[in-house]
Amino acid sequence: METADFEYIRDLCHQRAAIVLDLEKSYLIESRLQPLARTEGLGTIADLVAKMRTTGYGTLHGKVIEAMTTNETSFFRDLQPFEALKKVILPELIARRSLSRQLRIWCAACSTGQEPYTIAMLIEENFPQLAAWDVKILATDLSTQVLERARSGRFNQIEVNRGLPSPLVVKYFQRNGMQWELCERVRNKVEFRQLNLIDAWPAINTMDIVFIRNVLIYFDVQTKKDILGKVRNKLRCDGYLFLGGAESTFSLDDSFVRTEVEKASIYRLKGYDDPVLPTRAVKAASVRA
Ligand SMILES: C[S@@+](CC[C@H](N)C(=O)[O-])C[C@H]1O[C@@H](n2cnc3c(N)ncnc32)[C@H](O)[C@@H]1O
Repeated sequence: METADFEYIRDLCHQRAAIVLDLEKSYLIESRLQPLARTEGLGTIADLVAKMRTTGYGTLHGKVIEAMTTNETSFFRDLQPFEALKKVILPELIARRSLSRQLRIWCAACSTGQEPYTIAMLIEENFPQLAAWDVKILATDLSTQVLERARSGRFNQIEVNRGLPSPLVVKYFQRNGMQWELCERVRNKVEFRQLNLIDAWPAINTMDIVFIRNVLIYFDVQTKKDILGKVRNKLRCDGYLFLGGAESTFSLDDSFVRTEVEKASIYRLKGYDDPVLPTRAVKAASVRA
């Protein structure tokens, strides 16, 4: 690929999605954009870039950015965060929100939906009392393509095999040809919306739990700081933030404190001290990030 074409794609992805692509990633650009060039009726990546250069930002630019996102995900990814949710965090929140009976959970950068659907199934399986509560799971992503797949609730055999215990497959999925379809009851628990994390977030409510996992790793330091600053404003003072295993707030935002719950790292807002229900399990293992 010509250097000028590489630089065009790199700058586009950085300016519009904050995704950092360095020269070692040029192989990734080639492998992901060549098929797109073909489906757009263009022979090469050079033709694709030439076409984008001649028009203002539009659908084609959006497709290129989407093609450059990494959408790797799975059900119950890393397991421990979901153990923490089941054994400590949801029971605590249920006790604390017993008057309002309202819970707000947000999966930012949800990819094809396995993460928010994992949470929805976990709630369905373990917290039947929440059926009478106002519980909303919001799931957002930059990519309209992954959101379309997520909304469909259809997964192939490999996706189902990755992380989903078979009793849950039997209970919540139905086979349809080569696909497994998630039942409507669980699908309806999740609202999917398109959201670019580097844009403003006016329509996001204050959340009890935020999952923003395995996406900050693609951003530069300033973007990580900006996003964590915005998360801080959207998290309730006693809320919980989950990051990916290779991510942390360390040296990015000191308003968060890392704590360990069921071997999962969880971030809480510094200075939070629950006057009603001391969070013993959390505090016992509290570690400063
Ligand atoms: C590796 S997946 C993570 C999926 C899930 N959170 C998990 O941990 O399994 C990263 C997702 O981040 C999304 N993404 C990348 N840049 C984004 C941005 N600027 N705003 C919102 N989502 C973005 C991608 O489309 C992709 O689906």
